[in-house]
Amino acid sequence: MSHVSSKVTPWEARRQRPAKGKSGSKLAHESAEKHVLGTATYIDDMPEQAGTLFAAVGKSTIAHGKILSLDLTAVCNAPGVVDVITLDDIPGEKDIGPVFKGDPIFADGVVEFHGQALFAVLAESFEQAKRAVLLAQVSYEEHPALLTIKEALQQNAFVRPAHSMQKGDAASAITAAPIQMSGELYVKGQEHFYLEGQISYALPAEDGGIKLYCSSQHPTEVQKLVSEVLDLPINHVQVEVRRMGGGFGGKETQAAQWGCIASVFARRQNRPVKMRLDRQDDMVLTGKRHDFYNRYQLGIDENGKILGADIELAGFCGYSPDLSDAIVDRAMFHVDNAYDLNNARVIGHRCKTNTVSNTAYRGFGGPQGMIFAEAMLDDIARKVGKDPLDVRKANFYRDGGSTHYGQPVEDFFLPELVEQLEQDCDYRARRAAITEFNRTNRWKKRGLALTPVRFGISFTIQFLNQAGALVHIYTDGSIHLNHGGTEMGQGLFTKVAQVVAHEFDLDIDMIQASATATDKVPNTSPTAASSGSDLNGKAAQNACQILKSRLVQFAQQHYQVNAGDVRFINNHVVIGADENSAQWISFADFVTLAYQNRVSLSTTGYYATPKIHYNRDTASGRPFFYFAFGACCAEVEIDTLTGEYKVLRADILHDVGRSLNPAIDIGQIEGGFIQGMGWLTTEELLWDDKGRLQSNSAATYKIPTSVDIPAHFNVQLFDRANAEDTIYNSKAVGEPPFMHGIAVWCALRDAVASVADYTISPPLDTPATPERVLNAVMFCQQESKA
Ligand code: MTE
Ligand code: MOS
Repeated sequence: MSHVSSKVTPWEARRQRPAKGKSGSKLAHESAEKHVLGTATYIDDMPEQAGTLFAAVGKSTIAHGKILSLDLTAVCNAPGVVDVITLDDIPGEKDIGPVFKGDPIFADGVVEFHGQALFAVLAESFEQAKRAVLLAQVSYEEHPALLTIKEALQQNAFVRPAHSMQKGDAASAITAAPIQMSGELYVKGQEHFYLEGQISYALPAEDGGIKLYCSSQHPTEVQKLVSEVLDLPINHVQVEVRRMGGGFGGKETQAAQWGCIASVFARRQNRPVKMRLDRQDDMVLTGKRHDFYNRYQLGIDENGKILGADIELAGFCGYSPDLSDAIVDRAMFHVDNAYDLNNARVIGHRCKTNTVSNTAYRGFGGPQGMIFAEAMLDDIARKVGKDPLDVRKANFYRDGGSTHYGQPVEDFFLPELVEQLEQDCDYRARRAAITEFNRTNRWKKRGLALTPVRFGISFTIQFLNQAGALVHIYTDGSIHLNHGGTEMGQGLFTKVAQVVAHEFDLDIDMIQASATATDKVPNTSPTAASSGSDLNGKAAQNACQILKSRLVQFAQQHYQVNAGDVRFINNHVVIGADENSAQWISFADFVTLAYQNRVSLSTTGYYATPKIHYNRDTASGRPFFYFAFGACCAEVEIDTLTGEYKVLRADILHDVGRSLNPAIDIGQIEGGFIQGMGWLTTEELLWDDKGRLQSNSAATYKIPTSVDIPAHFNVQLFDRANAEDTIYNSKAVGEPPFMHGIAVWCALRDAVASVADYTISPPLDTPATPERVLNAVMFCQQESKA
């Protein structure tokens, strides 16, 4: 009575072998083939409905000032134009700030950054809309614009109040220390450069509602904001996300504006509306990774051990708060990286500038804090004349210690992991070889660095640490899976499907993951903070456990057996205590029987992360459920005449707990490292003195390409189960590997330091472009002459 088609493996064959694709298997991404063939449907690939109209926004041409007049007559009269809206035409809430207010859909009388949206146009074609926006006549009263962190600090311009964290008495510890030192580092931001730009497609729905397809990491927030903007109950808006062509944090909050504009037009015109930003608009109109300007004062002993640290971090937030409060907090949480600062004071500023509002980006501020820890450790090594790796090891946390925000240090096996990588990559022998190379080569110099990563996993906003799932079993045994997480290429849908396959011991091809939709699983958190598989994997497991217990209960009654004698094995349900005499029923036949006996085959599942708490008033608690660890050793070669360089080799050992899918995890580690390396080497954001973004296309902003991948690139997983009860004791993987890129920056600095025989720690702000490397080389040449 099997209901499977002939294309599908027959049940009898499935019975003979273990189920395929369960947790732990190296399964390809569920859309890998479709990605390669170009058949994966992104929003712009969806067949357009008849009558679809296209939206574009008009942008400001100054960075700061009052709008005196906005004449849109010519825009309205342009060919193909159907509708034009400004802030006054928003029927409901005009401010779409995700956490705090401050993000009007269109500039609210005052322009806050160059390129800010002033109005939007709806036309019969995308080109017509783009042409029409240029016809606006706008006059401004221009105000001085704050364009840098330093100006904002001087003028006390902040989007949110400063916050500080403390452990012991940093000031006294620094004064009492044998050696005092200070330093600073400017770290630039980063453009997300997701391949699929921001896009939304809004369809008018029943009772004035909206069905919105949106490329967003946070469908629930988009749903809520669209409902507020349209002044509708949330249940009138449905948001659906099948996949994104990359998000990287850039679609955590900043997909909403375009979804809201499309929805307002769709409602006004009662026609489908597509709003897609072209690359240049996308780069100008959406926030990036925050620049940080970081300063430290340290007290150390002669061995380079840190006794006290006073650290000041200042983030470049742009004109509005967006997520900057939490982002600067995360930078503060990670400024210790793996090191015990003993006595520490960490203060974080949220600088307001007249630039686009900066937002989440892989690591969420963590990388900007962590790189500063590594900069400090390198500076210390030069000061005390030791190998930086030895200074790092001497400063590692130990179990039983505590961070500057009161989280106890537990399961801290990073020293062991670092030790293993040091052996595996032959660090000492290569260090000796590099010293010799640098002695014998006049112009080419090589550098080496081995840096650790310790990244806290959990949203630091506690309530976001929850998830829901929806699982239906159909009568042919196939399973429909839905959960609150979104797929952006990171493989979440594959991993959660593996969890379901694992729970029922079914082949992975029995599980069909479906688009994330606010009407299937409600009130979801963004897919962010690397927590997608931790949260949604557990929620899906919970749903499976509920269904399994119903099925077992049914089997107990139906077959008159004990609960323990009902097992899910190899795509079958096995009834009976004894393997040989037990009855093997295909999963399909079994669930059909359950259905005929009126057992519900559908349920939701839910999960909330245990143990975490954090009191921001006292800046203490346990914000992170656990930490993900890793280490990277990078080797570079620089040309001291031109500043040009190459990454010769990178070795990464990374901890993903017990991997849900080693193939996907290694992909995440490789991609994260390359993206982190791009951030610190070639990717440079530039604004001119009018606040206009200069790096606004692929021609002026250089992301890494395949030729930038190190010729020798080894990625290994550190095989150890998570001590915390996560889904099958795995660990989150999305963001932590990004910070392995820091090893490249440290290696560049190591190569430059060789010019002064490692006696000074060269200044090298990021990105370390060839120009900056050359400047640092010249600095070392001058210093060593002096
Ligand atoms: N990997 C791909 N391919 N595309 C992405 O957009 N985003 C990263 C990371 N890896 C991203 C990615 C970011 S910023 C996060 S927070 C996590 O994936 C989110 O997914 P996860 O929680 O399921 O790991
Ligand atoms: Mo990732 S920056 O948390 O979306």
